[in-house]
Amino acid sequence: MTVNESITDLMTLDGRVALVTGAGRGIGRAIAMRLAEAGAAVAVADFDADAALRVTEAIRVAGGSAEAAPADVADEADVKTLVRACSEQMGGLDVVVNNAGIFPVRPVLEMATADFDRVLSVNLRSAFLCTREAALAMVDQGRGGSIINVTSVDALHPSMVGLAHYDASKHGMWGFTKNVALELAPHGIRVNAVAPGGVLTEGVREMGAGSDEAVAAFAERVPLQRMGDPDDIARAVLFLAVPMSGYMTGSQVVVDGGLLLR
Ligand SMILES: NC(=O)c1ccc[n+]([C@@H]2O[C@H](COP(=O)([O-])OP(=O)(O)OC[C@H]3O[C@@H](n4cnc5c(N)ncnc54)[C@H](O)[C@@H]3O)[C@@H](O)[C@H]2O)c1
Repeated sequence: MTVNESITDLMTLDGRVALVTGAGRGIGRAIAMRLAEAGAAVAVADFDADAALRVTEAIRVAGGSAEAAPADVADEADVKTLVRACSEQMGGLDVVVNNAGIFPVRPVLEMATADFDRVLSVNLRSAFLCTREAALAMVDQGRGGSIINVTSVDALHPSMVGLAHYDASKHGMWGFTKNVALELAPHGIRVNAVAPGGVLTEGVREMGAGSDEAVAAFAERVPLQRMGDPDDIARAVLFLAVPMSGYMTGSQVVVDGGLLLR
């Protein structure tokens, strides 16, 4: 690393390969679009194959490079196949964004064991599986890498009742981020987290929090007076992916419009 690198060089992902999970819509889609704009070839991984294809097409139309990668990232065999495809068909793996996540509201008194297990699997086990497989590939490549875990303000403080399983998964993801950052640092692999506040996405609409009234009520709680846009999160992820953040590892960047200040 030299001190006089230009801002352009520090912000580019030219010649790099990025894998984004849950990239078929919402925050993951915005992340995939920004990483592609920065020059990365992006593997658009999603459970929903049609959604992954649509995002891949949107990236190509914008002049970027992408491959659709249908996968259940909670499934070990799927993750192994996914990472192998990046290494063998896309030329390697330099950036991984563990974004796929679910947030079904369920009071703990009504929570089935299967509810808890599913949330932990999709949100936390997936990050472990993708990180392990990607890190093995990155160590093999010998050119370092950047792994970014999309946590939540709920990794630090609960936002509402009914998300005990979700909060457990996101607190776990933050602990996982710090420990893995320590372990992978000698290989030049940085591991950081981005913690979004409330962001208007398809998933949030499905949980019933996307109506005009709900969005306005949420905005009133936010010091910056609006709900987040998926691209607000994508910009922070981009920063952690590019050389600009080359001396950051084990950090969690909160992107919440100031929500946690209240
Ligand atoms: N939207 C928010 O307000 C908010 C706030 C804090 C954190 N987050 C986190 O951001 C991430 C994205 O949230 P979002 O609001 O964009 O969600 P979303 O529901 O709009 O999109 C999630 C995407 O992940 C995919 N997905 C789900 N399970 C998967 C699996 N097992 N394998 C592969 N893909 C899978 C879905 O098909 C979907 O395309 C999640 O980790 C979420 O916890 C969101």
